[in-house]
Amino acid sequence: MKLKAIILAAGAGTRMKSKTPKVLHKVCGQTMLGHVIDVANKTNVEECIAVVGHGSDKVKESLSSDVKTVLQTERLGTGHAVMMAEEHIEDGTILVLSGDGPLITEETLNKMMDYHKKQNFKATVLTTDLENPKGYGRIIRDSKGDLEKIVEEKDANEEQKAITEINSGIYCFDGASLRKALPKLTSDNNQKEYYLTDILYILRNMGSKVGVYKTKYYEEIMAVNSRVQLAEVEAIMRKRIAEKHMANGVTIINPDHTYIENTVEVGADTIIYPGAILSGNTVIGEDSVIGQNSRIENSTIANGVEVQSSTIIESKVDENTKIGPYAYLRPKSNIGKNVKIGDFVEVKNATIGDNSKASHLSYIGDADVGNNVNIGCGVVFVNYNGKDKNRSIVENNAFVGSNANLVAPVTVRENGYIACGSTITDEVPNDSLAIARARQENKIGWVKKKDLIKK
Ligand code: UD1
Ligand code: MG
Repeated sequence: MKLKAIILAAGAGTRMKSKTPKVLHKVCGQTMLGHVIDVANKTNVEECIAVVGHGSDKVKESLSSDVKTVLQTERLGTGHAVMMAEEHIEDGTILVLSGDGPLITEETLNKMMDYHKKQNFKATVLTTDLENPKGYGRIIRDSKGDLEKIVEEKDANEEQKAITEINSGIYCFDGASLRKALPKLTSDNNQKEYYLTDILYILRNMGSKVGVYKTKYYEEIMAVNSRVQLAEVEAIMRKRIAEKHMANGVTIINPDHTYIENTVEVGADTIIYPGAILSGNTVIGEDSVIGQNSRIENSTIANGVEVQSSTIIESKVDENTKIGPYAYLRPKSNIGKNVKIGDFVEVKNATIGDNSKASHLSYIGDADVGNNVNIGCGVVFVNYNGKDKNRSIVENNAFVGSNANLVAPVTVRENGYIACGSTITDEVPNDSLAIARARQENKIGWVKKKDLIKK
């Protein structure tokens, strides 16, 4: 039997007070809609259909090509949104999800769908008990405890408002039954909207079995309608991700203050200190230390690496290398094994070979640096002439003295040695010393003559 997911994502999200459509706000680095689609895909849906409306161009742009979209030009309610997807509602099971509920898990969806099938229901709604149910639709059960209907907060009387069991906005339907019931929806309610919730009542009155699958994991059904809720959902997702890594053997000193996106991989026995921000397709090996306030984005960090208070973007760092504190690896930096990139060193589009060191205050841009190279304090790879970027090459075992400038394009051959303070514009041959600075001249007694001696 076919399984399809319809994801409601057309709403404006007025309370977000944002230029960005609500479902495109990010939680732990991924859009809420992206999270929901990922979870749907994990339940093995054959097709995801997103109902888009508000900011539809942006929403569509955010989606991968396998997600179908239908347009809801007027926001006339959740039932109306599903009507827009009617052409996709075939026989089989239809899962309806909300684009603003990114915390739902595939485990809960699978359990709900299993229950739905076992009980032979035509519609099943996912519910939970909430201490503070305000704002949600309430689940009204009949004397036998079966679902009678769902009443929205705005349509509820005091007695109904006291009910703590709420509608998650997540359902599964038998496709054929949903198709039959949809045309019967009306907007006869306080919000003048077509409520999807009414479908369950309609089906029940048509003699179909409808049911409730109640979960105790109330956090999973939290929907985001405001920035406060966005932060709450983010905190829960952040905790979830941290717990996954801790279960895999990663030490996270303070999970509440460590920001790891869903996509990141971390090896066992790595220790992550507070304030670390790990994002994108970052992969971190085993036995590494990611120090406080380090930001690592789309980068690969091998085993045994130590990163202290540094920023690493779209780069690679090999085994047992030390980065920072306060180093900045910009895109396409490829740092070898046992390397030291120390404080206030910036590297960009450069390769640094094994066992090399740039311990302090350097800029290494557009360069190929070999193995065992020492780059002294304050060395600048002068890669830009105001028009073009040029590369420099520093071969194995070279020594670049402090405060030298390498004016690219330039090559320092193997074992080349550059005196500190030199501005190098020509190739430095093998095994040779290059000095490119004015000789010192001492003017004896000059200070006295000028009467500059401090009393
Ligand atoms: C809905 C449910 C409520 C439930 C709550 C759970 C209805 C009538 N009410 O209320 O019972 O407790 O979700 O979070 O279904 N959307 C569209 N087109 C529309 C209207 C909404 O695509 O015309 C989308 C929204 O973008 C959102 C989702 O549907 O992703 C839910 O809509 P929202 O307005 O947030 O519904 P609630 O009032 O929260
Ligand atoms: Mg909502």
